[in-house]
Amino acid sequence: MISIKSRREIELMRQTCKLAKSTLEFIGPYVKPGVSTEELNQLCHDYIISHDAYPSPLDYHGFPKSICTSLNEVICHGIPSKKDILKDGDILNIDVTTYLNKFHGDTNKTFLVGNVSDEVKKLVDITYKCMWEGIKVVKPGNRIGDIGARIAELAHGEGYTVVEEYCGHGIGREFHEEPQVVHNAKAGTGPVMKPGMTFTIEPMINLGSRHCLLLDDDWTVITKDKKWSAQFEHTILVTDDGYDVLTLRDEEK
Ligand code: MF3
Ligand code: CO
Ligand code: CO
Repeated sequence: MISIKSRREIELMRQTCKLAKSTLEFIGPYVKPGVSTEELNQLCHDYIISHDAYPSPLDYHGFPKSICTSLNEVICHGIPSKKDILKDGDILNIDVTTYLNKFHGDTNKTFLVGNVSDEVKKLVDITYKCMWEGIKVVKPGNRIGDIGARIAELAHGEGYTVVEEYCGHGIGREFHEEPQVVHNAKAGTGPVMKPGMTFTIEPMINLGSRHCLLLDDDWTVITKDKKWSAQFEHTILVTDDGYDVLTLRDEEK
């Protein structure tokens, strides 16, 4: 069942999503060579708690930290660690999910650390474009599969691959609700979008093959060929005539 949020619920979704996006804006200036992903985790944790909210990942099915930090060949669900110290040329995805007023808001961004190679910079740029092209498909009457069809068309056209094992998702009172938003889908498939639905779009795009490997920590997902991967994520509301990006950052306005 796909939940349709009421006006009141949408207002609460807006508040949690605003905090999630503010957390990403807050952490940006700290993403520099020499910082550890554990330090970034602690800063985000304290920021979220100080806003009377809870970091949704913490203890979610046993996840040990408050944000996900996915570095270079890590596709998603990287665990912050003192041992992971950023260096010039890295790319780091920070995925923030907040729980405020009983609602979750979910967003992520891939940051460039210092001087990144042109090849990787292009991967990050195209991944961001993939997310936006997917967002632009959101409109009542269109189908969820139309989103992934557009994303895959763009990514494949650039010679990249699309991760299939991890998806966007409905979001609200639960962190992960229906529907699943697959990023490599067939147009005309999946549920019909309706006003009041809220879900994430969060494509993971790879330089090499699409295949993944789960590390022994049972969380960290890396590319099988160790080539790098990028991701961006927003939480989207289906409106009467299109979409509203609930986690839109000031830099994107
Ligand atoms: N925020 C991730 C997503 O976009 C999910 C992280 S689950 C965790 O769906 F347990 F790893 F935090
Ligand atoms: Co998500
Ligand atoms: Co997320």
